[in-house]
Amino acid sequence: MNILVTGGSGFIGGNFVQYMVDKYPEYNIYNLDLLTYAGDLTKHKEYENKPNYHFIKADIADRYKILSIFNERKFDYVVHFAAESHVDRSISDPEVFIRTNVLGTQVLLDAAKEVGVKKFVHISTDEVYGELDFDPDTFFTEETPLQPNSPYSASKASSDLLVRAYHETYDLPINITRCSNNYGPYHFPEKLIPLTISRVLNDEKVPVYGDGKNVRDWLHVYDHCTAIDLVMHQAKSGETYNIGGHNEKTNLEVVQTIISALDKSENLIEFVKDRLGHDKRYAIDPTKLEELGWKPMYNFETGIDQTIKWYLENKDWWEAIINEEYKKYFDDQYQIN
Ligand code: NAD
Ligand code: DAU
Repeated sequence: MNILVTGGSGFIGGNFVQYMVDKYPEYNIYNLDLLTYAGDLTKHKEYENKPNYHFIKADIADRYKILSIFNERKFDYVVHFAAESHVDRSISDPEVFIRTNVLGTQVLLDAAKEVGVKKFVHISTDEVYGELDFDPDTFFTEETPLQPNSPYSASKASSDLLVRAYHETYDLPINITRCSNNYGPYHFPEKLIPLTISRVLNDEKVPVYGDGKNVRDWLHVYDHCTAIDLVMHQAKSGETYNIGGHNEKTNLEVVQTIISALDKSENLIEFVKDRLGHDKRYAIDPTKLEELGWKPMYNFETGIDQTIKWYLENKDWWEAIINEEYKKYFDDQYQIN
């Protein structure tokens, strides 16, 4: 069985590739990635020489190259993670989000249709639903209307609609998954949790947007991987699944938890200008996925402990990322020391 994983050198894709290479030695796992600022090959070192792991450097929006790769490899399954994924970057520069997330997805759909894949699993996000208010009894279900608020989430919602359309029009076998915020090993330190861990470890200020009361629903990346494995193998074509583990936290709670676990001072917290169009709250109802047999392994407390430990033990990985390019991005974004 040939499985194509796009974006397998990024955060979630990288964890998924490792999970699949270990769990299914009989599958060929092809990681196709452009290696943008968010992708790196060092995370594959533990398994890069295994016979069931293969790397292809390519741009998903390069139609000619993608079609020739599909015709050569005859993939059975596509699990599509590759994307521009950071909301703040989409606010300052939306264009590449449309190219990669919308056009890139359409190129992959055409290629998948041409070779007749068994299934195209599209990794989407809860952000396509927009925002919830702070009423703790409201959740995103698969029936919640799409109402994306940022250029990032609008590009992801557009790709979801294309995936749906290829199923309806051409009968392409598909699933769409919409997960809540992930955290865990190899999370790029522009996102809240790894940014907080890395800056607190360096005794640097942590920027918290607005009043820090916005809520996110956190899921350990390992649990996202088990959910995708289940959907890929068991779900009926055409179905969409929300993925989340009921771990809602305010951003301030997340930052305080990390500061306390590292035994540092809350004086490191710096409240900064709010994100434009900042979604108030995300919260997932995962009932449909649970009915398929999924159960997360981590809650936020066990997951954040494991993650902090990983960042302590893998300083080489994230310190290499905090280079001149990263520092310039950080300074332009935050204007704090
Ligand atoms: P990431 O930014 O860490 O990784 C993205 C990967 O895609 C990188 O390796 C990058 O090099 C690659 N890529 C970017 N443009 C490409 C192109 N044109 N061609 C080929 N490869 C390209 O992202 P992530 O956080 O791992 O997210 C992966 C997917 O999961 C995304 O589709 C995202 O929308 C979705 N998602 C993320 C989260 C989250 O909390 N991070 C939650 C739900 C869904
Ligand atoms: O919900 C799923 C989404 O989660 C994914 O689709 C996105 O790809 C992923 O990046 C993530 O989006 P968020 O915008 O929720 O994640 P981020 O880590 O950027 O921010 C989490 C919250 O923390 C959000 O409310 C903004 C806030 N924040 C973020 C940063 C980077 C801060 O307060 N300070 C910061 O410096």
